[in-house]
Amino acid sequence: MKTFTLPGTDMVVPNVVLGLMRIQTMTDEAVRTLVNTARDAGITFLDHADVYGSDDHGCERRFAEALKLSSSEREQFVIQSKAGIVKDGPYFDFSHNHIIESVNGSLQALGTDYLDILLLHRPDALVEPEEVARAFDELSAAGKVRAFGVSNQTPRQLDLLRKHVTQPIVANQLQLSITHAPMIAQGVAANMQGLDQSVVRDDGIVDYCRLHDITIQAWSPFQAGFFDGPFLGSERFPELNAVIDRLSSKYGVPAEAIAVAWITRHPAQMQVVLGTTTPERVTAAALGSDIPLTRSEWYELFRAAGYTVP
Ligand SMILES: NC(=O)c1ccc[n+]([C@@H]2O[C@H](COP(=O)([O-])OP(=O)(O)OC[C@H]3O[C@@H](n4cnc5c(N)ncnc54)[C@H](OP(=O)(O)O)[C@@H]3O)[C@@H](O)[C@H]2O)c1
Repeated sequence: MKTFTLPGTDMVVPNVVLGLMRIQTMTDEAVRTLVNTARDAGITFLDHADVYGSDDHGCERRFAEALKLSSSEREQFVIQSKAGIVKDGPYFDFSHNHIIESVNGSLQALGTDYLDILLLHRPDALVEPEEVARAFDELSAAGKVRAFGVSNQTPRQLDLLRKHVTQPIVANQLQLSITHAPMIAQGVAANMQGLDQSVVRDDGIVDYCRLHDITIQAWSPFQAGFFDGPFLGSERFPELNAVIDRLSSKYGVPAEAIAVAWITRHPAQMQVVLGTTTPERVTAAALGSDIPLTRSEWYELFRAAGYTVP
């Protein structure tokens, strides 16, 4: 497993992460097997959110009840969680009180004294960045959160936050798979008239994150689009799956590893956030951590997914 020091922190992290959004209905034994399989493959970074599960903090609680980590076991993991979505509504809330309450709820549900990283989950139109800064300062001073980041944010939203927040913003978690790659595909086809791919949807977030040492974490790396099922093995993507199968044979790895490698091969040094609940798929995906796809292979996958290379 490829690891690196997460810029803005002293944490050495793997470039493949286990997301725990889908564990609510799993048994203790199944959750333990999933997390232990990930750990054995070098995936020691876990992604949670207060809203994952059927009730608030449901998946965080399910994880803690199943794993019952001792404090030394807990220290072997980087545990990240998120705040800012209110499910009943739904709406977004980056107010000081909501952030503090959410983190306290996460700590209680996870049975830990600290989060390694807290992300603001989705942009709040009513954000008051001074309030976010006050919440981050309090959480940092109390030792409850070691580092801070965001998710689904644009460069200008980040600029606004960074004007007020004193801690470095270390991560931006964004949707990215071979078939859902507008933030990469736009730059490849900049300024092309009449081509949808050319439309700027994110204000250049990939380059912004690279310029500011903000690590991109790719969520839904296997989903074709927004939670509409995986592209692997899907008859909607025959050409892409043919290329993936050929590269799987060439590198001697399962298809999941090629899907992961398309992201880890990008020089922005991204992390891939897996959501599978199947231990075998975690092992397979982990093999994509450091596959040296050539430029030509990387672009072939990109074209086979339907993107234009002008
Ligand atoms: N920041 C955000 O806004 C945001 C949004 C969504 C998710 N996330 C994070 O990202 C993580 C990943 O999201 P995701 O679960 O949508 O991503 P994903 O890894 O792309 O999708 C996993 C889902 O695809 C299924 N699947 C079917 N065939 C598969 C295959 N061959 N390989 C892998 N999975 C296959 C899995 O089923 P099985 O479980 O049966 O294997 C599972 O239901 C979440 O756990 C969460 O931590 C963040």
